[in-house]
Amino acid sequence: MSSLVDFSQPSLWVSVATIVFNPTFWNIAARQEYHNKVITRLFGGNSRNGCYALAVTIFSLGIIRDYFYNEALSQQPSHPLLSTQLSKLSALPLFLTGNILVLTSMYALGVTGTYLGDYFGILMDTPVTSFPFNVTDAPMYHGSTLSFLATALWRGKPAGVLLTGLVTIMYAIARRFEDPFTTMIYKKREKEKERREGKKGN
Ligand SMILES: *[C@@H]1O[C@H](CO)[C@@H](O)[C@H](O)[C@H]1NC(C)=O
Repeated sequence: MSSLVDFSQPSLWVSVATIVFNPTFWNIAARQEYHNKVITRLFGGNSRNGCYALAVTIFSLGIIRDYFYNEALSQQPSHPLLSTQLSKLSALPLFLTGNILVLTSMYALGVTGTYLGDYFGILMDTPVTSFPFNVTDAPMYHGSTLSFLATALWRGKPAGVLLTGLVTIMYAIARRFEDPFTTMIYKKREKEKERREGKKGN
């Protein structure tokens, strides 16, 4: 294992820390917003501005995480099996697919839909079912994971594959918190809508 991944490099652990921190941070921030309106209060009661600020923060944290991931890989050993032309070429379609998934889902959801707007009470009119949501259930997460893997293969670094595994685990944990919440909040709206319509009918 030591020839595959150099665990003595502090940069590896910085990368681990940012990969773990980001989804943890946005889930805690979003829950605090939902329950206590923490971010909306910071923005003088304007939830849309609060959501935009969270979006900028999450986006920036993502850039920082990617930076430290690349820094960490620079100080990790390459492996001959990952340094073949085939492995390098396989990175290209992965990278392309990953970026298409992330960018098209951002386009389909918009800023508030992408960055946890539902926790701010900013809901989509209808759940988005168009591409890429008709090919995968979590295009943003799967796309991001593919990009991590592509970078690892492109640079021939087993440590990158390991860190991609950590990304996969962190996203799976994040979805365990986010998916039931999203389902709950849209159901709640549906019920309120039914109640209002029921009243009208009487
Ligand atoms: C997904 O939707 C797009 C249009 O938004 C369509 O072109 C494509 O064929 C659909 N794919 C599947 C697998 O349904």
